[in-house]
Amino acid sequence: MDDIIILGIESSCDDTSAAVLHNTTLLSSVIASQAVHEKYGGVIPELASRAHQQNIVPVVDTALKEAGITIDKVDAIAFTRGPGLLGSLMVGTSFAKGLSISNNIPMVEVNHLHGHILSHFVDLPDRELPHPDYPFLCLLVSGGHTQIVKVDAPDKMEIVGTTIDDAAGEALDKCAKVMGLPYPGGPVIDRLAKEGNKDAFKFAKPRVEGFNYSFSGLKTSFLYTLRDQVAIDPDFIEKNKTDLCASLLYTVVDILADKLIKASKEFGIRDIALGGGVSANSALRARIEAEGKRHHWRTFLPELKFTTDNAAMIAVAGYYRYLRGEIATLDLAPIARYEEMV
Ligand code: KG4
Ligand code: ZN
Repeated sequence: MDDIIILGIESSCDDTSAAVLHNTTLLSSVIASQAVHEKYGGVIPELASRAHQQNIVPVVDTALKEAGITIDKVDAIAFTRGPGLLGSLMVGTSFAKGLSISNNIPMVEVNHLHGHILSHFVDLPDRELPHPDYPFLCLLVSGGHTQIVKVDAPDKMEIVGTTIDDAAGEALDKCAKVMGLPYPGGPVIDRLAKEGNKDAFKFAKPRVEGFNYSFSGLKTSFLYTLRDQVAIDPDFIEKNKTDLCASLLYTVVDILADKLIKASKEFGIRDIALGGGVSANSALRARIEAEGKRHHWRTFLPELKFTTDNAAMIAVAGYYRYLRGEIATLDLAPIARYEEMV
């Protein structure tokens, strides 16, 4: 195999990240997370782009140093073109262009969602990670997206189901916010749910056709429960926090698992992968493992460091594009809503 070195750059939301791959083997991965958003209970786009500007030079520099690679050894720069926050994407895209021009290195654009899905093909220097066989189904659950994707090849993906309103991560984050929990709410709900009773409350489950998802009805029924109960007892949330988290999270996990099982049956595909920030969730991981045993799946749960946004996944998606000769032109602009799969 050729020796290809890819530098990946990710800046679509609130993490500035760079990673270096030797073919599909990870040499380094650096992530600067932005604490600045915590006190606002959500990502503030203006502050995100400013923080990316401050972070991007040291992050890329550190990734190259940790990989023991100088910029002249890099064969291609893979960067996230979208989807994401436009100002944030602009920082990564512009930086990639500058680096490309000044060092005469080709650029490769990457769809952030492809990155999450293809993160299953990154290997670690000391061990190969399990890779799904094509075709496989990926349940992609992040802050902005909830999709079931049929993956036939790195460049052949089809969205077979998607949310018609909120994403699963978004619903968790919003419900966490009204409970007064810090942002992002997903990991906090994960932790609190472990101490709660999942049967304490019943929240609405959607009835949506096919393999599509919906989470706004669940969110509304959660908000109504809080409103009604807080009117009776102002300390309701504080007293019931763990039970609320457990009941909410298990409902989300149920909704996610049901459609995935249905899609696996319909397509006759039993290699099942998870991807995206919510795939770090311990209840979801346990449920998919259990369903895997029941339905004879091979389940692929990403390493925790590859669940939330990272540049290793961007680099590996870029690696496959580079092998196909898909070089990006310098006039290319970032795209905030870049949903369509290749
Ligand atoms: O993939 P990601 O890092 O960014 C996007 O592309 O959106 O996903 C972020 C989402 C947030 O909604 C966050 O609350 C959720 O992933 N998340 C989790 C956990 N870790 C991150 N949700 C549930 N449990 C977790 N452990
Ligand atoms: Zn993401």
